[in-house]
Amino acid sequence: MQYKKATIVIENISNLVTLKGPNRARRSDEMSEVGLIKDGIVAVEDDKIIFVGQDHLPQNIRITSETITIDASNKLVTPGLIDSHTHLVYGGSREHEIYNKLKGTKYLDIMQAGGGIYYTVEMTKKASFKELYKKAERSLNRMMEFGVTTVEAKSGYGLDDFETELKQLKVIKELNDNHPVDIVATFLAAHAVPERYKNNSDKFVEIIINEMISYVSEKGLAKFCDVFCEEGVFSVEQSRKILTAAKDWGLIPKIHADELEPLGGAELAAEIGCISADHLVGASEKGLKMMAEKGVIATLLPTTTFFLQSEKYADARKMIEYGIPVALSTDYNPGSSPTENLQLVMSFGVIKLKMSPQEIISSVTINAAASLGLENKIGSLEEGKNADIVIFDVPNLEYLIYHFGVNHTDTVIKNGVVVYSNNQ
Ligand code: NIG
Ligand code: FE
Repeated sequence: MQYKKATIVIENISNLVTLKGPNRARRSDEMSEVGLIKDGIVAVEDDKIIFVGQDHLPQNIRITSETITIDASNKLVTPGLIDSHTHLVYGGSREHEIYNKLKGTKYLDIMQAGGGIYYTVEMTKKASFKELYKKAERSLNRMMEFGVTTVEAKSGYGLDDFETELKQLKVIKELNDNHPVDIVATFLAAHAVPERYKNNSDKFVEIIINEMISYVSEKGLAKFCDVFCEEGVFSVEQSRKILTAAKDWGLIPKIHADELEPLGGAELAAEIGCISADHLVGASEKGLKMMAEKGVIATLLPTTTFFLQSEKYADARKMIEYGIPVALSTDYNPGSSPTENLQLVMSFGVIKLKMSPQEIISSVTINAAASLGLENKIGSLEEGKNADIVIFDVPNLEYLIYHFGVNHTDTVIKNGVVVYSNNQ
């Protein structure tokens, strides 16, 4: 018999949510099949999962004096959570905009008046590499404490100042190298039209296409390319050009689509074959049907809608009914969603998006993994997958989402190493 030595064993797990199933985004009823095991047990060898089951380990898995054994009675165990849409790296903060918002000024109006994203661009330009690194590291630590083991992070606060865009991408790269949490980078120079191209935004689109995308791709600084496709920002036509060029350079397209108005971003995401379309509060019926057909993942960001004080949330129920795989994320950023708390987003998934706890856990694990092209490595607890595991100090999945606004994390394991413990 071929013996394996367990490095970590988590035993007596009251509720073990495995997400066992195909390594792809789950849709419709599949999102409710979470592979729940009662009295579960998980064994890890080095950075990989070697067993997931019930009750006891098979005979070929040995516990040695070096094995870390964790008792998870009365606890919930899930795959490491994945925050698949964040603007992690930026300078400054925008608490002063709260008062403008209370006076009724809209997000895009604040931006058109030179605030919003433009303000953060100025603060990000001014910040040194080290300052940006330290600030992002703090946020990343918070995310990890909330149970997040993989994060997507975008540039987008340099715009035409390519040096600043690159500074953000290099911070992401260095954090990925040094921090236990894995970070996947997205190039988002098309986050706003810079001041000097206000009357000639096509020129900026050309610069992104002809000068920036090739460099980012050749230097391996990003896996994805994103565009803020919105009325008054980048048009559908401009977004199409940027994302097509990105694809040609081997960057996988993503899109901020129909966040506020139904501009045709969902349709474009389907036409181009974006891996995900994000926000989608205003997405049209036709756009959603096209996304379902093409299997574009809808990444929904309910804390953004909440923070922008909008009445209307993305129609998650309709998306699931149409067969669109749904992911949920924080959209962590200084302007429209200043929170690192993915557990809070999950509660909003129930309260505001009317998703079930089962659909929600699928949306922050396997579906989020698929939206980052990582579904073969992470997103479920199965033999051979990376040992990214969270233990929550709650009796069951429903409780995690019901008791909202606090941190339920007990222990976070990343690549087979305990990286956070609430009991220390
Ligand atoms: O996803 N919509 C565009 N980008 C961000 C907000 C960025 C900011 O306001 O700084 C978002 O909501
Ligand atoms: Fe965003």
